[in-house]
Amino acid sequence: MATTVQMSVNPSDLPQGHDAAEKIPGPGIMVIFGASGDLTKRKLLPALFHLEQSNLLPKDFAIVGVARRPLGNEFAEDMKDGILKFGSVDATDPKLEEFVAKISYHALQFDDASGYPGLKDALDKLAAEKKIGPDRLFYLATAPEYFAPIIENLGASGMAHPEQGKIGVVIEKPFGHDLDSARELNRQVNAVFPESQVFRIDHYLGKETVQNVLAFRFANGIFEPVWNRNFIDNIQITAAEDIGIEGRGPFYEKAGALRDIIQNHMMEVLGFVTMEPPSSFEAEAVRREKVKVWQAIPSIPITNAVRGQYGPGIVGGQKVIGYREEERVNPESGTETYAAVKLEIENWRWAGVPFYLRAGKRLKKRATEITIQFKQPPLLIFNRMQSSSAPCPEIQPNIISIRIQPDDGIALRFGTKVPNTPGMTVCPVNMDFSYAQAFGQQRANGYERLLLDAMLGDQTLFSHRDGVEINWAHYTPILQAWAAKKPEVFPNYFAGSWGPDCSDRLLEKDGRKWKNSLGKPE
Ligand code: BG6
Repeated sequence: MATTVQMSVNPSDLPQGHDAAEKIPGPGIMVIFGASGDLTKRKLLPALFHLEQSNLLPKDFAIVGVARRPLGNEFAEDMKDGILKFGSVDATDPKLEEFVAKISYHALQFDDASGYPGLKDALDKLAAEKKIGPDRLFYLATAPEYFAPIIENLGASGMAHPEQGKIGVVIEKPFGHDLDSARELNRQVNAVFPESQVFRIDHYLGKETVQNVLAFRFANGIFEPVWNRNFIDNIQITAAEDIGIEGRGPFYEKAGALRDIIQNHMMEVLGFVTMEPPSSFEAEAVRREKVKVWQAIPSIPITNAVRGQYGPGIVGGQKVIGYREEERVNPESGTETYAAVKLEIENWRWAGVPFYLRAGKRLKKRATEITIQFKQPPLLIFNRMQSSSAPCPEIQPNIISIRIQPDDGIALRFGTKVPNTPGMTVCPVNMDFSYAQAFGQQRANGYERLLLDAMLGDQTLFSHRDGVEINWAHYTPILQAWAAKKPEVFPNYFAGSWGPDCSDRLLEKDGRKWKNSLGKPE
């Protein structure tokens, strides 16, 4: 039974206010394609308003939603509802009405080239009226089949290369559905926008704790010397969700857990955990180190990948239906709602260390966590003195748990002598740092940082074309093998469990176990 010691922060050590002038983008227009979808209302507009509240948006700024439906003022009103509901914003916030007045709407068929000159005119007119200037950020939040037509049409209508001003394009996931489609999309994107203008978004990179992996490793002297094969036994990365597919049947049927989470979000996290120290915190330096580490992953044998699908069960005390019973899902679906892989990194730092990645829907609880398990000391002198009836009969290895969500934080487990017991009884205790306790509750959803960086032209926290292709190359053979052979026993885990047995076996054959005490140090 581990005891936990909380870590705190001294308020006088915290920055007081931000270094404003440097970090505010120039005046411009953000154009959101696919603006009538959920993402805009739930994430993008609340994030933009949080930036406004922090005085991080330029004064001369406009947001234009673009979608197919003819909409008028009700679009801005709908976005206001989204800001209040999903951004935890008070309706009396003095900045709200002025911000909502900056939102407008333009109807367009994404694949109809004849509509784009009209969009260009509308943007130019808006810019002239509001004295906004020529900077434009195009945000593609549409279904993926529209990415290429929109980009081509932006190019053909002259909106990608204006005479002056900064132009960027933000592309949501999924970026392709396999290696070939990702390559083709990269080709289409770069035919119009040079790589320096392309922002492939992975919202995990906007999460504070994911960025904190870099701070933890490279701003402290004590961890990096042991961050390697000599001291680390294995690393596990878990992205467990208790929710199901939330009405996204048609999308999820084509995606599955490997494509939806592992190939992108988890590989980005893995990149941060394992890359060499970059020479600076600049886009090129950081991206180069991530690419190097992904390139060092040898092909993943199909036997090191397992899949699962949830059946009915109980989550958080409520009965829930199985995946095959979800709306607009094939009742005989072979899509995986859970995937786990074991991979290795063949370089001097990591050779021989297994990395276990797992992601799943309708699991026991929501917890995204990195678990770094250290090797035992070379000689366990106290083990001989622990009796089998002692509270901790075995000495436990050290663990660093980095909790990405919820309750973001970091815990270190180590052994300590239990007082007032005969001999040497050693039990694990935890030092636990919680972001919320140290810095107060954060309202950010991850998009604030990414939207601001994209407006500022900083690509550090965005995926590069090479990285996207390398990671598709790792997973495409597994996806192909899975597509060719429908799983025999689906569903194979109960909603509300920790996933299928085959996932436990993946670790058991190495003499290991998943760390399932997620969300708390031990
Ligand atoms: C998205 C996936 O990219 O990430 C969703 O498409 C998933 O299926 C979501 O639920 C998880 O994000 P978060 O930030 O809630 O961990």
